[in-house]
Amino acid sequence: AVRRAITGRIRDGRVVLSDLTMTDREIRDIGRICIVACGSSYHVGMVSKYNWERLLRRPVEVCLASEFRYCDPLVDDHSLVIFISQSGETIDTLAAMREAKRLGARVLSMNVVGSSIAREADDVLYTWAGPEIAVATTKAYSTQLVLMDLIALYLGDLLGTIEKTEYDTILHELEVLPEKLERVLASIEDVKYFASRYFNHDSIFFIGRNLDYAMGLEGSLKLKEISYIHSEAYASGELKHGTISLIEPGTLVVALGTYEPLFDKAMSNVVEVKARGAEVLALATEPFKEKMAHTADSVIAVPETHPVVQPSLGVVPLQLFAYYVALQRGCDIDKPRNLAKSVTVE
Ligand code: AGP
Repeated sequence: AVRRAITGRIRDGRVVLSDLTMTDREIRDIGRICIVACGSSYHVGMVSKYNWERLLRRPVEVCLASEFRYCDPLVDDHSLVIFISQSGETIDTLAAMREAKRLGARVLSMNVVGSSIAREADDVLYTWAGPEIAVATTKAYSTQLVLMDLIALYLGDLLGTIEKTEYDTILHELEVLPEKLERVLASIEDVKYFASRYFNHDSIFFIGRNLDYAMGLEGSLKLKEISYIHSEAYASGELKHGTISLIEPGTLVVALGTYEPLFDKAMSNVVEVKARGAEVLALATEPFKEKMAHTADSVIAVPETHPVVQPSLGVVPLQLFAYYVALQRGCDIDKPRNLAKSVTVE
């Protein structure tokens, strides 16, 4: 799915978004960027906020669609509002989009062909992920994420906010991402083993900083959605501000340490929770696996890539962890209780 989302959008070392109708002038005129979505699509927005602000040097706000639609949003005709929705039928996202359009914003959506949101948006970028049957999204999340990276490169290039070497490196890493994802999928045994070791925990915390925090939000949602285990994701820096009181001997903490610029900070948070008796399952990039293993109880490693692209690799073991934990617990993975694939009522 990721290969399909990328293919055709990279040509001769450049991002080509032929489906985008915004003119260069309209792009240069953007003053404010908002990303509006629900659930996992919102989590794609959370990752993209870090990446877009870094690459575009513009403030990017991420809003829950259910909040945006009622908050008298500060958007106008210099705003670009991006609506991410796999189904394109989520009622809150659709209503939020109508509100943004009413206020004059330029509206870009990302979803499947022929949906209500796609029909009403000014611009639509399709993920080409194909139908996703399971309620819990995985391939939609992953394709939305790479598409957001491609858009950031495209806009950053046009706005002159990305250095050429960084542009080339990120683009190359996106091109080789499908192969690296295959490597992650080939090392599934590790994840299966940890799932069988930890499946009967009652409560699991995901901690991380920056992109790892944003990625942890999705890892935590996936777990609670299909395994029914209580789970929360926290920005590690917030631990001392309250959360750490929840850690007691044996609490499972999934410590995310794939964002290399802050790896040492991630390590010190692992030390902190270990000191309170937590059992730590860590995620790190391959070059940092050994270092992480000195402190964490167990480590899953993923291939290294550019930090902007790293969450696309890191999220896969988290998705698989949720899957195998749910399997161990005998849950109906494709159709978790109380949930529908597309939320068309408020
Ligand atoms: C994710 O696994 C969930 N099924 C849910 O959070 C979903 O992402 C959310 O309802 C938004 O759906 P959409 O992308 O179709 O708008």
